Amino acid sequence: MSTAELIADPVHSKHAEHARPRKRRPPLALRPLHKIWRRTIDQLDVTRIDLPVRGLADAHRNLVACQISDFHVDRDEDLARLYAAVEAINRERPDLVFLTGDYFSGPDTMQRFLDPFRETLSRLKTAYGVLAILGNHDHWSSAEKITAALEAAGAEVLANRNRRIRINERDLIVVGIDDLWSRHAEPARAFAGVEPGESSIVLAHNPDTALYARHLHPGVMLSGHTHGGVVRIPYYGSPLKSILRIGKRFYSGLNQFEDFFIYTNRGLGTFWLRIRINCRPEISRFRLMPLDPALINSAKTTEAAPEALPGEVRRRRLRRTKPARPKIPRRRRKTR
Ligand SMILES: [Fe+2]
Repeated sequence: MSTAELIADPVHSKHAEHARPRKRRPPLALRPLHKIWRRTIDQLDVTRIDLPVRGLADAHRNLVACQISDFHVDRDEDLARLYAAVEAINRERPDLVFLTGDYFSGPDTMQRFLDPFRETLSRLKTAYGVLAILGNHDHWSSAEKITAALEAAGAEVLANRNRRIRINERDLIVVGIDDLWSRHAEPARAFAGVEPGESSIVLAHNPDTALYARHLHPGVMLSGHTHGGVVRIPYYGSPLKSILRIGKRFYSGLNQFEDFFIYTNRGLGTFWLRIRINCRPEISRFRLMPLDPALINSAKTTEAAPEALPGEVRRRRLRRTKPARPKIPRRRRKTR
């Protein structure tokens, strides 16, 4: 490998060896609990879904798309998890990848991790591209810097606009609505040029955005923001589910809203408390399917009744219990 390649490749970077995260081992008595906790927040689930898209053209049936969301890259371990997710997505050979916001929690960690974040995302491999939107935390950090990093990594950021992608001689329309909580969402502007009869895949960080976009007839909506409810109690769900105005069931998974479906991804990272219980980080792997109108009234949610849905949902847990080490500099050091 040439010197130029060594510098360009963060995995083999000369910075990587001395920059490895320092890990403090917990006291012996707490190690079993610590191991369980680490697995819960690090072990990635790949959720396989037949995604029902209203009005999807036959030319786009069976396209594969992956979604990741809510990275909250605030520590080396979050970067390592993102790196593992990128590797897992590449193994799925997706046609498209969707990134649905909250990449950092705040300006300090954004500043620290922006370069390795960009380098890690630039490893994504797709047939037709990576499309991204921003979340509330991205606006609270720096929308400008994060947008620049995403674009440098090869992603297209859809801030209240849409993109037509020519696939199998038909246009697939991806609409990106900017974040709702930070008051940047402009659904009508995002749908500009999209005819009422045209099918679309809508990216919107917060599931509540559907309340303001339903009249624009989305084909399907992909969201994040809720982290899957963080803590999920069997037969009850998450105690945090009522934070959404749209309805309590939209905190996770595939749910019908009026005459279209919303998928809410559980995210990769954590915010504030590093806790997940029965709610592992998620990569969504979609196979696009036309929505059968006959099923629209009978289906409610995949979380409670997967057999009642138009799409098949299967979950595959990655064997790896720890994310791959990204070997990316832990901290940018000042050069004299
Ligand atoms: Fe969010």
